[in-house]
Amino acid sequence: MTTDLVPVALGTRSYEVRIGAGLIARAGAEIAPLLRRKRVAVITDDTVASHHLMTLAEALDSQGIAMVALSIPPGESSKGWEQYARCSEWLLEQKIERRDVVVAFGGGVVGDLVGFACATLRRGVRFVQIPTTLLAQVDSSVGGKTGINTTQGKNLIGAFHQPSLVLADIGVLNTLEPRDFLAGYGEVVKYGLLGDAAFFDWLEVNGPAMAAGDMGLRQYAVKRSVEMKAGIVSRDETEEGERALLNLGHTFCHALEKATGYSSRLLHGEGVAIGCALAFELSQRMGLCSQEAPSRVRAHLKAMGTKVDLADIPGDLPDAAGLLALMGQDKKVVDGKLRFILARGIGQAFVADDVPGDLVTAVLTDALRVRS
Ligand SMILES: NC(=O)c1ccc[n+]([C@@H]2O[C@H](COP(=O)([O-])OP(=O)(O)OC[C@H]3O[C@@H](n4cnc5c(N)ncnc54)[C@H](O)[C@@H]3O)[C@@H](O)[C@H]2O)c1
Ligand SMILES: [Zn+2]
Repeated sequence: MTTDLVPVALGTRSYEVRIGAGLIARAGAEIAPLLRRKRVAVITDDTVASHHLMTLAEALDSQGIAMVALSIPPGESSKGWEQYARCSEWLLEQKIERRDVVVAFGGGVVGDLVGFACATLRRGVRFVQIPTTLLAQVDSSVGGKTGINTTQGKNLIGAFHQPSLVLADIGVLNTLEPRDFLAGYGEVVKYGLLGDAAFFDWLEVNGPAMAAGDMGLRQYAVKRSVEMKAGIVSRDETEEGERALLNLGHTFCHALEKATGYSSRLLHGEGVAIGCALAFELSQRMGLCSQEAPSRVRAHLKAMGTKVDLADIPGDLPDAAGLLALMGQDKKVVDGKLRFILARGIGQAFVADDVPGDLVTAVLTDALRVRS
């Protein structure tokens, strides 16, 4: 299979996302042109290391590139001050300088954490993303948002720091837990819903075979997702406008993530899938789109076997007012008004800045009622 190349056009900070099977085994040759000395520092997590670090080490070694590696515990709790300090100190101990390249090798947690460490290390060190989850390949590795969580909330400390290269190896998705794959799918379907109805049609037909492991279908889905993200990011790098569309489903998602304590009760991508279904429901109630649109969204998510209803979240949830209050704390609130990404149909999302709170409450009340 060939490698797809998707450019992210950002002037002097432009880079390429390379998508294909077997890229990690060729990573030495892919990365070598970026290096001024033949040495890289790799940061990964323990799970990714156990499956794939040997392949990366051999690929670098085959090109005469020396590698030092640090592995952190897997999971969202690593995306905080403690591991940020640890990674930063380790990179300094390894004498990583501004002309060097750091490799972030893992899912979105490793990518966000290591990207942020690189943004601040010596005021900015270049880094390469090698995303190993579906979510990281289609979303977090592209676009330069990096950061960590604090006790106040998620992603509140961060920086825009674009990678120098992204290598998305489709083959590594084979070792993902099915639940993690489906969570990443929440972000894939988001792209179709926000701006590409034909892609959503394609996913309705091909999604199940893709989830079952078809590599060609996986490569196309990642490529199309990355193309969409790259286009939006190159037009609006710092989210002054269009980039906000990437938050389709995310206002609901963030409230649900807070309500479930960012625990394994709800993975981020699962919350995005539920949030997209709710955003279409809200759009329909505002008379923006037909009843057919939310029905199709829900039917497809159900067919894929991902979470789609609030009833799919185990344990108790706050009532509608409680969930609305959690949305109010969202950092995307502008001047006290709730901002939602709504849709005029599949593939036609837009930013709505003044959504009536009582309508959101009604949507949530009904969604919660289905639970009981
Ligand atoms: N920067 C952005 O633009 C952006 C966008 C979306 C999400 N995010 C962030 O991404 C994070 C979530 O990322 P994620 O879903 O990749 O989570 P993750 O990095 O925690 O990975 C999920 C799990 O999969 C394991 N794993 C990773 N690759 C594997 C592989 N190939 N085989 C087997 N196991 C593997 C990990 O060890 C982990 O246990 C969140 O912190 C979220 O805020 C950032
Ligand atoms: Zn997301």
